[in-house]
Amino acid sequence: MQSITLTRPDDWHCHIRDGDEMASVIGHSTRQFARAIIMPNLKPAVTTTDEAGAYRQRILSCLPGNADFEPLMTLYLTDNTTSDEIKKAHDSGFIHAVKLYPSGATTHSDAGVGQIKKTWPVLAKMAELGMPLLVHGEVTDPDVDIFDREKIFIEQQLIPVLDNIPDLRVVLEHITTREAVEFISAESERVAATITAHHLLMNRNAMFNGGLHPHHYCLPVLKREQHRQALIEIIQSGHPRFFLGTDSAPHARNTKESSCGCAGIFTAHAAMELYAEAFEQAQALDKLEAFASFNGPDFYGLPRNTKRITLTKESWQVPPDYPLTKTQSVIPLRANEEISWKL
Ligand code: NCD
Ligand code: ZN
Repeated sequence: MQSITLTRPDDWHCHIRDGDEMASVIGHSTRQFARAIIMPNLKPAVTTTDEAGAYRQRILSCLPGNADFEPLMTLYLTDNTTSDEIKKAHDSGFIHAVKLYPSGATTHSDAGVGQIKKTWPVLAKMAELGMPLLVHGEVTDPDVDIFDREKIFIEQQLIPVLDNIPDLRVVLEHITTREAVEFISAESERVAATITAHHLLMNRNAMFNGGLHPHHYCLPVLKREQHRQALIEIIQSGHPRFFLGTDSAPHARNTKESSCGCAGIFTAHAAMELYAEAFEQAQALDKLEAFASFNGPDFYGLPRNTKRITLTKESWQVPPDYPLTKTQSVIPLRANEEISWKL
């Protein structure tokens, strides 16, 4: 039987929610990953160092008994974030980045940034401290076609930020387009990107195959095949500034199967297995370890993990759902279907 052993990976973009939901989903992540960048889009958002510290404690106290897992906390950037708060976050030692959600771009982003230009002084402070900015790269203008929002964001918002704050380190999160791949590749060492397993495995047809599939709806939305191909080409190349970020985003079943369903795909239950499938299909399994375990810590200036995991080529069936709260479940990607790799 075919198997691959690699350095234990990290997840550089993950939603683990809070309370009962966190208690239900966190084990899926800790089973696979040594560390994860924890997204701050709770309700209310995690906007201060004190709130991030309290959230971190809640995470640590709900870890499964034998879990060896470090949550890497982030702050949620708002119009009111101060440079002093950034300094405090940096000095805490447990906050590793600040997240920019354009207000209204995605789930729980209403507290996000209205005009990015107004945050430039704060971003300059981050540049000075070497604190990376993590970007949800989509414009929110309702007149811009939803499939073009990432490309337009890069042109209209991201390039001016990078031009004006030359030392700012940026991760463009969950990229989905050829334009994003080309932009990151052409940029300098200070700019990187994460890629999800679902954007490697599916194009936008997956939302509409024989009917509407709400569990394939996320933001940024799945794109055309030619864009998926660009993501595949860049992982095949082994480029060091692209790395793993699942964007696993659990939502209760009824909030997705609804007349106005939430954005977010839950992949934590099988994250490494799904990436292994994507890399195998791309004939790039030899590039998986750097993507999952080296490029991320290298960019963040953190040590690489030392333990190892093994993935085996062995089919298993994903359950129809997983518990989320006492009364609600979450539908995982590939529910009732097979995945060809097993951790
Ligand atoms: C995320 C969520 O549900 O929190 N949803 C998603 O579609 N990816 C938010 C985000 O990362 O955009
Ligand atoms: Zn996300």
